[in-house]
Amino acid sequence: MKNTDKYEKVIELGRRRGFFWPSYEIYGGAGGFLDFGPAGVALKRKIENKWRDFFLKRHGFLEIETPIITPEKIFRASGHVEHFKDPMIECKICKRVFRADHLLRDLGVKNTESMTLTELRNEFETRGTVCPECGGQLLEPRHMQTMFQTTIGPYTEAIAYGRPEAAQGIFVNFRRLFEVAREQFPIGVGQVGHALRNEISPRQGPIRLREFTIMEFEFFFDPEEPQCPLLKDVQDVEVRVIPIQSRKEKSEEPLQMSLRDAVDRKVILVEWMAYFMGLSQQFIGELGIPQDKQRFLEKLPSERAHYSAQTFDQEIYLDRWGWTEISGHAYRTSYDLSRHMDQSGVDNRVFRPYPRPVEVEEKRLVPDVDAIRKTFGDDFPKVMELVGTVDQGLLEDALTKKGSYEIDGFTITQNHVKAKTLKRKETGKRIVPHVVEPSFGADRLVYSAMEYAYSIKEDRVVLGLPKDIAPFQVVVLPLLKKSDLVEKANKIYRMLLEAKIDTYCDEVGSIGRRYARADEIGVPLAVTVDYETLTDGTLTVRHRDTWKQVRIGQTNLISHTWDFFDSK
Ligand code: ATP
Ligand code: GLY
Repeated sequence: MKNTDKYEKVIELGRRRGFFWPSYEIYGGAGGFLDFGPAGVALKRKIENKWRDFFLKRHGFLEIETPIITPEKIFRASGHVEHFKDPMIECKICKRVFRADHLLRDLGVKNTESMTLTELRNEFETRGTVCPECGGQLLEPRHMQTMFQTTIGPYTEAIAYGRPEAAQGIFVNFRRLFEVAREQFPIGVGQVGHALRNEISPRQGPIRLREFTIMEFEFFFDPEEPQCPLLKDVQDVEVRVIPIQSRKEKSEEPLQMSLRDAVDRKVILVEWMAYFMGLSQQFIGELGIPQDKQRFLEKLPSERAHYSAQTFDQEIYLDRWGWTEISGHAYRTSYDLSRHMDQSGVDNRVFRPYPRPVEVEEKRLVPDVDAIRKTFGDDFPKVMELVGTVDQGLLEDALTKKGSYEIDGFTITQNHVKAKTLKRKETGKRIVPHVVEPSFGADRLVYSAMEYAYSIKEDRVVLGLPKDIAPFQVVVLPLLKKSDLVEKANKIYRMLLEAKIDTYCDEVGSIGRRYARADEIGVPLAVTVDYETLTDGTLTVRHRDTWKQVRIGQTNLISHTWDFFDSK
């Protein structure tokens, strides 16, 4: 086997065994798009469903589905029209365009993501960097808006964008979802779906796509009651964190600390965020990526998205790409809900009852009966009512600034009102929830799980995926392509399907080649139907990881399979 890096091997396997390959291949391809084949779709769905189980179902969070095409006003309100851009740099000679910060990062420059255009330009100038493709002169770096733009219907003014995140579909529906959930609070809402980003130069296969699957949820909580009761279950879990402080001191060495410590030392600002980071580490661990190949990198303020008050990138180590982000954990505060409240007029506040009602004092200007009767005579009842119901703020303001206030043609002066302190009971207050958001990319996870599962045994590739995410659980193999064996194998295949076991039948090629193919797809069990099966009803079950074979009765196959998949 050629000495290629793991990336190349996984990409080759992906293509050969029907996991994924570049889109539009027969027309020369289009950078940044990926097609998933049968094994890839099956693996991706398993990862998505595991994410659902891990984060949504176990907490009773809601899942929704909203459109990809989004009218411009939503992304104006959310700040994306203004902020969703990346720095690019073009070659004067060959006209190739590169992501300016990534080009410098690949040359070993630190913290390039936080550089302004001027800083990037200075760095290129001092280094005398030239085009990596043709050696030509590079032009000035500039920003490119990276949302795909379109119009809705035949109206050129109806500008819309492909969503670069699924989160806005959740924020704009917050009011309705809160009601659907019968005002349950705190509340989590998730979404899995395609996101579009017009990446400047995607050259990392499944790692950087222009259309990818995002899995994210928004967790809405009361900032005045930020405690996470679930944290105690995982507080001793250790995470490897590179906080801002370390980065400022130019250290990329992760600090190992428990989640409790991270919260107590204010490394992680929100308890809920710490809890979800702990779960994320476990989730990624269960995809086959060990803890020492994971870390959380805190983003510098200048690297953070515009909506975030604190962000951690969960990174894993990949053979070719080094530390690579697979999920982002952002503390979005009340930013999005407040902006949409402001722009749409819809009240996104939730009522938070106090443990017991509190008495509050309120200063009010109340009508002075005698003075009003004296000034307005017969109009006295009308003026009494007007003064009694007028907006207090407006009245007070006008009296202080102008000395009088006009209502319905009556001039009210300081003389006609008295200041009074009223007491009333308040049972709670309205708050705009704060949000923490864990956001995962499914395509990066498919690739990463494959890279970590990729192994060579006796010169053969075995994709040792964790068995609960393996694309298929069982492959059924007739020993030979003879009609009686094929017919029996089909019966076994249908029996497995009815028991809700993910399976397929493979009858093409020698049995050795078919075992090898199943190993490459990562199928944990292979069931072989031979002539003994026809006579005594026994089958051979071969295990992917040990290559051991056991002979069992056909009637025990389902329970054998379930026992295997249920065991740790
Ligand atoms: P990067 O720094 O790698 O560009 P990002 O900070 O833009 O990523 P987020 O905006 O936090 O990423 O998106 C959430 C998740 O979506 C990421 O952790 C990643 O797994 C995934 N993701 C983001 N951009 C892409 C992309 N172009 N292709 C595939 N997955 C992506
Ligand atoms: N919603 C995650 C992101 O776009 O950054």
